[in-house]
Amino acid sequence: MIDKHSRRINYLRISVTDLCNLRCVYCMPPHGTKLLDREEILSFEEILTIVKHGVSLRVNKIRLTGGEPLVRKGITSLIKHIADIDGIDDVAVTTNGVFVREFAMALKTSGLSRLNISLDTLRDDRFRDITRGGRLKDVLDGIEKILEVGFTGTKVNVVVMRGKNDDEIHDFFRYILERDIELRFIELMASGWKNMVEEDRFMPISEIMQKVEEIGELIPVKQRICGGPATIYKIKGALGSIGFISAVSKPFCNTCNRLRLTSDGRLRSCLLSGGEVDVKDILRSNLSKAELAEKLTNAFVKVTTMKPTIHSGKSNAVMHQIGG
Ligand code: 5AD
Ligand code: SF4
Repeated sequence: MIDKHSRRINYLRISVTDLCNLRCVYCMPPHGTKLLDREEILSFEEILTIVKHGVSLRVNKIRLTGGEPLVRKGITSLIKHIADIDGIDDVAVTTNGVFVREFAMALKTSGLSRLNISLDTLRDDRFRDITRGGRLKDVLDGIEKILEVGFTGTKVNVVVMRGKNDDEIHDFFRYILERDIELRFIELMASGWKNMVEEDRFMPISEIMQKVEEIGELIPVKQRICGGPATIYKIKGALGSIGFISAVSKPFCNTCNRLRLTSDGRLRSCLLSGGEVDVKDILRSNLSKAELAEKLTNAFVKVTTMKPTIHSGKSNAVMHQIGG
């Protein structure tokens, strides 16, 4: 599918659950959120129908997100089914890392290509604060384990917050000295939950880059076109690399190649703005095979044409339901 701005849409991000075992300050309010009714959540069969349909329209990359995707029962079997579909070249997950140690081997044998892990701090007490109760060690052990079982292309996402973790940039650099990881510094986005994180926590990528440049010269890494939203650099002496994601100060919408599927079955054109189509309705209306195919194609095409040229900068939706 090519949209009206010549962006080839080949990437579908699927939120498999709105549940999460953590409550990160920038994602959820302290008391948690009202969860969706379980019957609202797409079954694996329904997700697979959407994926197969996407593949018939040249989607070849899938990412599973949440909430926390690893809390969805049977997730490795879903991954295996997706990875086995002809035409799928890449299946990745974005996880908070807490259960990664436990799942590493099963994820490897399921055919998963890669993992993105959220890790905003390397300090115990801060980790507990930012995630409201998580244990840093679980995530660090998880990362060691996935490197050990042979995953490559692992990415670690750091949302930089002024006065909370912006003094750890050097520590993070030290962390990737001997680990083949792409460390990605991400700008804090205002999400659907107002006043959760004070606005003055925002730090633009330009400032984050300046801090990284104090460590050493940033050497740009050649990137594939449509390779993702991060601009990537190496610093001499480190095995890992460093990426910057400036979703707020410099949107990368012009190279955006993705659509999203929410856990309750809405196909969305963009994380932040644009429209959506309720595909759960289509899946659950007892259509013939041909009718179903036609309606799903129309849904994909409609959402693709709804992709905004540039997003509004603020989310009109709830991050842990769309999948970050
Ligand atoms: N700002 C920036 N990134 C966010 N994420 C979730 N909420 C926000 C936000 N408000 C990102 C986290 C996580 C991914 C799932 O989504 O970095 O790695
Ligand atoms: Fe859970 Fe991820 Fe949201 Fe944190 S950012 S609460 S880990 S969904």
